[in-house]
Amino acid sequence: MDIEKRLHQLRSQFQKDLTTAQNAKELEALKVQYLGKKGELQGLMSLLRECTPDERPMVGKLINELKNDVTESLDRQETKLGDAELSERLKAEIDDVTLPGRRRFMGRRHIISQTLEESLDILMEMGFSVQYGPDIESEYYNFEALNFAKDHPARDMQDTFFITKDTLLRTHTSNIQIRVMEGSKPPIRVVGPGVCYRNEDITARSHVMFNQIEALYVDKKVTFGDLLSTLEEFYTKLFKNKLKLRYRPSYFPFVEPGMEVDISCIRCSGEGCVLCKQSGWLEVCGAGMVHPEVLKSGGIDPEEYTGFAFGGGIERVALLRHAISDIRFFLEDDLRFLQQF
Ligand code: PHE
Repeated sequence: MDIEKRLHQLRSQFQKDLTTAQNAKELEALKVQYLGKKGELQGLMSLLRECTPDERPMVGKLINELKNDVTESLDRQETKLGDAELSERLKAEIDDVTLPGRRRFMGRRHIISQTLEESLDILMEMGFSVQYGPDIESEYYNFEALNFAKDHPARDMQDTFFITKDTLLRTHTSNIQIRVMEGSKPPIRVVGPGVCYRNEDITARSHVMFNQIEALYVDKKVTFGDLLSTLEEFYTKLFKNKLKLRYRPSYFPFVEPGMEVDISCIRCSGEGCVLCKQSGWLEVCGAGMVHPEVLKSGGIDPEEYTGFAFGGGIERVALLRHAISDIRFFLEDDLRFLQQF
C-alpha cells in the first residue's frame, strides 16, 4: 500500500534528520518541519482522504502513531540536548568552591597619624587647642621672629631646604608660635602638629621629612613649674607608663631657659638596655620658657606675660613605643609593616 510505504519513508527520514540536529534551534526547525501546520505529517492527512473508507481507520491509526513517535522523539532529544548544553555551560562557568574567599582589604590610619592624633588628644584634654601652620614658610617665621639673629650660628643647627632666599621648608613646628601669638591674645594654649624638613642624611635614625608637635602656653604667671608638670603628664599619658623625666640644659634661641627632655627608658625603666644605649634615658623633646624677644615678636608684652613651649618628634615616639628599628619604614608604604599597627 502506497500510504504505508510513504509513512515508512517519513519515519526513517525523520530518524535521520533527528540525529543531525545539534542544538535547540535545529531541533525547533525539525519540529516545525514535521509537526507544523504545513508540516510533513499534516501533509499525510490529504493522503488519508484518498483512502477507501475501510482503509481509513488503520491508516489514521498509523499516522497517529507516527505523530506520537515523532513528538516523543523530539521531546526526548530536546531534553538530551538541553542537558548537554547546560553541562557544557556549567563546565565553562565553573567556580572552584573549595578556593579560599578573597579577603576584603580594610584600610587603616598610618601609624604616624595614629601617634599624632593620640598626642593631640592628650593635649586637647589638657586644654590645648589645635592650630596649624604652613609647611612652606618664610625665613621670618621659621627663624628671625624666633630670635635667630640674621647671622646667628644657630641657624646652622638645622640644615634648611631653602626655596628662595626668604622662603624655606619649615625646619620645625616652632613657626606656629609667632603666627598664633600674632593672631590671638593671651591666654594662649595651642598645640601645632606638622611636617618638618631638614637637609640631613637619611639613616635609620634621621630623615629629611618628619612630624613634630609644638605646644605653646602663654598667660600671666606661667611658670617653669607649669612646664615641668605639663611635660610629665603629657609623656606619662603618651607612653602609658609611670615615667621619670630628666631635664638637660640646652640652647634654643626662642626659649630661655631652654632644655632637652628625656624620659626614663620605657624598656628597662632606667637600668640600661639597647633601646636607651645603656644610658637609661630617651630624649623626647626640646622645651623652655618663651624668650621675651619672641613674645615681643608675637606682639605680646613680656613684662605682663610669660609662656612655655615644647616641641618634639612624632616618629621618635612611634619608634620608641613600638620598638621599630628604622625611621625609613614609615615612608616606605610597605603593607607588611603598616598592617601591624
Ligand atoms: N623647635 C625645636 C626643635 O625642633 C624644639 C623646641 C620647641 C625647643 C619648643 C624648645 C621649645 O628642635
